[in-house]
Amino acid sequence: MKVAAETAVGTSICAILAEDVFAMAVQHAFEADSSKASTHAAFGLDGLHGEAAKKKMFFGSATSEDRIISDIPYRTALVKECGIIVPEYEMKWDIMRPSATTYNFADADFMINFARQNGLAVRGHTLCWHRALPSWFASTVNSRNAAQFLTEHIATVCGRYKGRIHSWDVVNEAIEPTDRQTNGLRNSPWFQLLGESYIETAFRAAHQADPAAILVYNEYGVEFDDTIRTDAIVNLLRRLKARNVPLHALGVQGHIRAADKAKFAANMQRFRTFLREVATLGLSIIITELDCDDTGLASSITTRDEGVGGMYGDYCSVVMNEPAVIGIITWGLTDKYTALNSTNPRSDRLPQRPLPLDANMVRKNAWYALEYWFKNTMQRPRQTITSVAEERVAPIQRLRCIPNTQQSECEIQFTLERSEDVLLRLVDVRGQDVQILAQARFEAGEHRFMLNYAAFPIGTYLCILQSPSFLVSEKILLQK
Ligand code: G3I
Repeated sequence: MKVAAETAVGTSICAILAEDVFAMAVQHAFEADSSKASTHAAFGLDGLHGEAAKKKMFFGSATSEDRIISDIPYRTALVKECGIIVPEYEMKWDIMRPSATTYNFADADFMINFARQNGLAVRGHTLCWHRALPSWFASTVNSRNAAQFLTEHIATVCGRYKGRIHSWDVVNEAIEPTDRQTNGLRNSPWFQLLGESYIETAFRAAHQADPAAILVYNEYGVEFDDTIRTDAIVNLLRRLKARNVPLHALGVQGHIRAADKAKFAANMQRFRTFLREVATLGLSIIITELDCDDTGLASSITTRDEGVGGMYGDYCSVVMNEPAVIGIITWGLTDKYTALNSTNPRSDRLPQRPLPLDANMVRKNAWYALEYWFKNTMQRPRQTITSVAEERVAPIQRLRCIPNTQQSECEIQFTLERSEDVLLRLVDVRGQDVQILAQARFEAGEHRFMLNYAAFPIGTYLCILQSPSFLVSEKILLQK
């Protein structure tokens, strides 16, 4: 294979492409919808966000900096499947606040820049939580300065990212009736320091700093028939609304267990009623942290994938039928990075399989359950809070692939806004590398490559341009 490049060309990886790959490629080429943003339409096989967006909903997942930087197949899948991401760690106090007087923005900045450059929206998580507090917190924050610490933190963080965050989890997990405090509130450090008023303080500070962001109260444990818990949540939301607190949505975390299938079925109606009560308060609902723990299921992969996928289906049969539910975020995209292996390990020590993609980025039953429900749910009306599908920011690195079928050549052009370490590669429909076209540092400006594909079988390929901070792709149909 010959590649003429303006700079040194990296190693060439030739892959033998099997017949069925080309059958798939042809089929996918026919399925392609050219109206989709190229970064989200790898081979015309739109991911879950592509399906969600057709219904004015969104799909995304929690992710983190390390895995985005180090794992290219993962990053490719993330950009393909998601329209929105949420930093799993990077915006929590223990990461952002190395000391009482300083901020670490580096990790959050990375996430927000990565998202922007790949046309993804971002959820901010979380401004006020009883966990993930820095070690200095307990000895430094007291009832006299707590309100100031809270408002200053929120003003600084929301102010920095103003206009770039789709929705903020302003207060996370404030209800815990078993703590036996007023109104079922959790006996958290914030509650101990400020009483219930910390919740209102946090929302008002967030709204003042970033008036366009959707402000979310995020909570777990609402799927089962614990009316004490769900009543406490609804009452909290009602009190906040009655006081005109800027609150726009409830985040339902959605940490479920496949072994709870029967229990979930028995409580579906109660869960539905809860969601409707929330909707009558004028709030939207976002499923913010969906995953399905497979502890309690037998070790066979088929058994677990079917059990987890079935539970995703049951869950969606409730939430997707509620018009107030505007989007779904999974707590991780692939089993490779699920937090459940450390928080809820299986007794047989096998890695959990709670997410839509397996550890090799292959779609599982859970993925198909989500796809089915995005395809079959009703279209949401235009929301007073805009859905991310309409807000997508175009990538700043323009990538164009212009085939010349007469010469069996394809001109690849891209423009960089700044100097970057770039990897430019061609992959097949399975995401396998066919050729590394370039791997070098490139200056800002326009760059061109000529790819001779005379030796390639005809079909659909994906040209991927990536750096530590972005990934863009362009589908190419190579014909002769
Ligand atoms: O990064 C350190 C590492 O340096 C150290 O060696 C290691 C030793 O334990 O800890 C690492 O940090 C851990 C971090 O995850 C990264 O693995 C923290 O101890 C651990 O507490 C942290 O747990 C996260 C937790 O939130 C607290 O931030 C989980 O992964 C994350 O999935 C979880 O997410 C929460 C949501 O924010 C809120 N809803 C529930 C959800 C699941 O618990």
